[in-house]
Amino acid sequence: MNAPSPARLEGKPLFQTLDMLSAGQIAAIRRIPSHDHAPTVAIEASRPATIFTCQKRYDLEQAKVFRKSAVPVMLSAMIVEPGSAIAHDGYGVPLLLTRDRKGAAHAFLNACQHKGSKLLEGCDAVKTSRLTCPYHAWTYGLDGTLAGVARAETFINLDTSTRNLVELPAREGGGLIWVMLDRHAEPDFSGVDARLVEDMDAFGIGDAHIYGRKTFHLKANWKLVQEPFLEGYHVQRLHARTVGPLFADVPNVVDLLGPNIRQISGKAQFNPTDLDIPGENIHKTVTHAYLVFPNTVVVTSPYYISVMVIIPNGVRETTVDYYMLTRLQPDTPKGEEIYQRSYEMILGVFGGEDFRAAEISQVGLDSGALEEVVYCGLEATIPIYYEQLEKRLEA
Ligand code: FES
Ligand SMILES: [Fe+2]
Repeated sequence: MNAPSPARLEGKPLFQTLDMLSAGQIAAIRRIPSHDHAPTVAIEASRPATIFTCQKRYDLEQAKVFRKSAVPVMLSAMIVEPGSAIAHDGYGVPLLLTRDRKGAAHAFLNACQHKGSKLLEGCDAVKTSRLTCPYHAWTYGLDGTLAGVARAETFINLDTSTRNLVELPAREGGGLIWVMLDRHAEPDFSGVDARLVEDMDAFGIGDAHIYGRKTFHLKANWKLVQEPFLEGYHVQRLHARTVGPLFADVPNVVDLLGPNIRQISGKAQFNPTDLDIPGENIHKTVTHAYLVFPNTVVVTSPYYISVMVIIPNGVRETTVDYYMLTRLQPDTPKGEEIYQRSYEMILGVFGGEDFRAAEISQVGLDSGALEEVVYCGLEATIPIYYEQLEKRLEA
């Protein structure tokens, strides 16, 4: 798939109206009841506390989910220009992502075929046409081909054609790059569902501007970090002093797009007639929250989109790669100031409130105080997500 051209940024409106969304999103939004008619949903659902504390369970998730199906690794926008490359170590596998001259994205093991050295380090993209190993300077094209060996005449019988970088199956869609971390597993790209890609394309994730990004290292199970993005129960409570008052305590409209989940909710006092106000910023009226299976969250705000890749590193160790995306680069000091304020606010809400809640829940769960965790009707998407996960764990 080709890189979106940066030129497409020009002439883009600052915010989106309902008609700019996908047919699937519009149909779902039209199903949101008015605040006064929102049903009260009650459910009986629970999961054993051990799903957050048990090493065996963690190992099973790694083997059956994270190594068996393609996982979202990063945004296409991180390597937007042809001739760029970036390293990514979050999943415990040294990855090298590149976009070749023709615009195709590739994923490789970040290991030189001479002695295994990483070709690239750090977390910023580099613009280059070749990758040169820092150790003995073997060079590779961005398509992984071994292009040059220093002092090649000093090797006898070195068949360079068999020493290209090891490529991992990868796909790009909707502005995300998915990779199969285990190259020996049967590639499973079922998460790259066409409806999800259509929705992400409608948001313009692929050619958005990365206003800010931050990596969080958390002491909590990855599912505890993810759960708050699958429920509205905590919003009025945990976020009472920040964003809580903007939201309503009502169920979301939920759709499965393959294994991925789309949740859409109306803001406080939502009325369907709000949708027919011409020229209205749709992201002021409704909030989208996606769970891109198994571990990536996409949440809309009026003027930006948050993407979080939630990466398990251990039973109670998680890395979150947070990205704040805006449709345009701020071009005035006022615009910059607004985005900067939003960025600090959202990092405070997610980092200081949601992630903090996950870490303090982990401590309580580790104490053995609870046999099980129970979920209410305002958390009904959590068991829906776990059913998707368990289907794979039991396969
Ligand atoms: S390890 Fe890369 S050239 Fe030697
Ligand atoms: Fe939250």
